[in-house]
Amino acid sequence: MARFDDQVAIVTGSATGIGYGIAKRLGCEGAKVVMVDFDSELGEQAASELAARGTPTELTLGDVAEPDTAERAVKQALDTWGRIDILVNNAGIGGVNGNIWELEVEEMDRVYRTNLRGVFSFSHTVIPHMLERDYGRIVNIASIAGKEGNPRMVPYSATKAAVIGLTKSVGKELSGTGVRVNCVTPAVVQTRILDEFTPEQVAYMVERIPLGRTGEISEIAALVAWLASEECSFSTGAVFDISGGRATY
Ligand SMILES: NC(=O)c1ccc[n+]([C@@H]2O[C@H](COP(=O)([O-])OP(=O)(O)OC[C@H]3O[C@@H](n4cnc5c(N)ncnc54)[C@H](O)[C@@H]3O)[C@@H](O)[C@H]2O)c1
Repeated sequence: MARFDDQVAIVTGSATGIGYGIAKRLGCEGAKVVMVDFDSELGEQAASELAARGTPTELTLGDVAEPDTAERAVKQALDTWGRIDILVNNAGIGGVNGNIWELEVEEMDRVYRTNLRGVFSFSHTVIPHMLERDYGRIVNIASIAGKEGNPRMVPYSATKAAVIGLTKSVGKELSGTGVRVNCVTPAVVQTRILDEFTPEQVAYMVERIPLGRTGEISEIAALVAWLASEECSFSTGAVFDISGGRATY
């Protein structure tokens, strides 16, 4: 019996990078997976790869910031498998690097839409279905930037801090139920998101990791898999560090 046999997971931003790694890990351990992404080409490719590995897979294409995307993902999960056990709010963008006085106000709106509105929208739509069965595990992918505040990354740092705040609030809202809500705060992992940043910005972030290396997608996926499991029963509204020692709290 695998850890996620019979369970259904929705993973946003899972066409590539950390999201794909999480989808793969949950699938390897028996979960059926609804992948959500707005990149149709990468999404189709990732969904076929996951299915070819033996994971029952559905793909919902759309922008996580649009409530319609969450509604379609939920419908796809329920129509196909009749339940939702796990939600991983992973979709995120890095944004343009620059000091706050150099960035357009619209850049803040753009980053907010994916990084925070998307997490709100999926949580808002999925939670009522978890409450019906009094079981659920929600894992939000925040960032060390949300705890420490990276310079020249204000929209990213601020929205990731907000994901931490959202996690703490929703964890308390659901504390009398069987639904647990937690988040993780990774430091740098080599994925496509780094293409959004200048080489100097990436160097700034990597230099601050005491373990002297970047994180692996599989390392993030392993922690998320535990937080998504029944074994994670006494933690909620909590922030789990995975920053190679950068976080001091
Ligand atoms: N890579 C890192 O160093 C790092 C560190 C800390 C936190 N994170 C967080 O991890 C998560 C995954 O990042 P990643 O590094 O794998 O990035 P990535 O760019 O490799 O992958 C992000 C995925 O999300 C999708 N996506 C982006 N915006 C979307 C939207 N509005 N609607 C639907 N899909 C959307 C993209 O198409 C892509 O498939 C993000 O929340 C990111 O902030 C990453």
